[in-house]
Amino acid sequence: MTHPHETVRVALGDRSYRIEIGHGLLINASDWVSPLLSRPRVAVVTDDTVGPLHLDALRDGLAAGGIEMAHLTLPSGEATKCWRYLTETVEWLLEQKVERGDMVVAFGGGVIGDLVGFAAAILRRGVRFVQIPTSLLAQVDSSVGGKTAINSPHGKNLIGAFHQPSLVLADVAVLGTLTERDFLAGYGEVVKYGLLGDAAFFDWLEINAPDLAAGDITKRIEAVRWSCQMKADIVERDETEQGDRALLNLGHTFGHALEAATGYSDRLLHGEGVAIGCALAFEVSSRLGLCSQEDPSRVRAHLKAMGMKTDLHDIAGDLPDADALMALMGQDKKVTQGTLNYIMTRGIGEAYVTSNVDPKVVKSVLVDALA
Ligand code: GLY
Repeated sequence: MTHPHETVRVALGDRSYRIEIGHGLLINASDWVSPLLSRPRVAVVTDDTVGPLHLDALRDGLAAGGIEMAHLTLPSGEATKCWRYLTETVEWLLEQKVERGDMVVAFGGGVIGDLVGFAAAILRRGVRFVQIPTSLLAQVDSSVGGKTAINSPHGKNLIGAFHQPSLVLADVAVLGTLTERDFLAGYGEVVKYGLLGDAAFFDWLEINAPDLAAGDITKRIEAVRWSCQMKADIVERDETEQGDRALLNLGHTFGHALEAATGYSDRLLHGEGVAIGCALAFEVSSRLGLCSQEDPSRVRAHLKAMGMKTDLHDIAGDLPDADALMALMGQDKKVTQGTLNYIMTRGIGEAYVTSNVDPKVVKSVLVDALA
């Protein structure tokens, strides 16, 4: 069966690139990568989950066009986004004699994309790289837009650079090996797009997301396309997050606080925190009279229908109290001059950035959610 192929363009002047979305792109990787190469050789960095599953397919796909591939495999997991593995990656790329005109390939989920993108940003003051995202979260969010980073003990993504990829290859075939939990966590970022800026997309998801989760390839391609198009539009308007790009953080201030409260552990995946955070952001918006009371109920009903974590009680184990969660929210990157910027909403698809949120209302929502 032939599946649709979609292309989303990210127009950023001389940093413009294409996001190719389809089924079976790895097998034809050389068709997409060859035109970007100055010599038929790439350096691929992956992790020990993705490598055993998909590296052979990528190697074969590149070899079909005469492209040689060297690879480095890092441990999978968030802990890899640190100085040690950044150093290892950069030194390995130098050993491989990667030059300014060469192409580095980040082949994995968000951790690999962020780390390898940052390595490419600083190697020889910047080499080009291709993102081949293998998780739903990376396909719809982290591989697009050029944010690259590692973590610090002070917080996530605090050391990094903006460095746009030269190409993103989103092959939905590789999503077939994700666990249901990882797929649904990535879906948290998909639903975020509808909630932040496109009520028609949320309507579409309410109808089609069960098919997506069940493996419908055409609908997976459409959801990735729609999400990437929305992200591309926002990044084109505000590449370095001076304004509108912060909309992409809907649900993230709550989500990051919950991730910190659960020790960035398996208790709560990033996308799960985002989904719960979106539900909380709608609840706060409703209590502030910004959106109707039906909106948070509709958001929660959809998350629940998808079998996703929706409420604070869906997180296993104890959570800190509302004051402690508020303190964790205050450590968010979105604090400027001591004021926390919130992403609030006037309804589904109508998010906006504001610092004008009464902390008492936020606290009352958290108190009720913890009760
Ligand atoms: N993931 C949020 C952004 O790329 O801005």
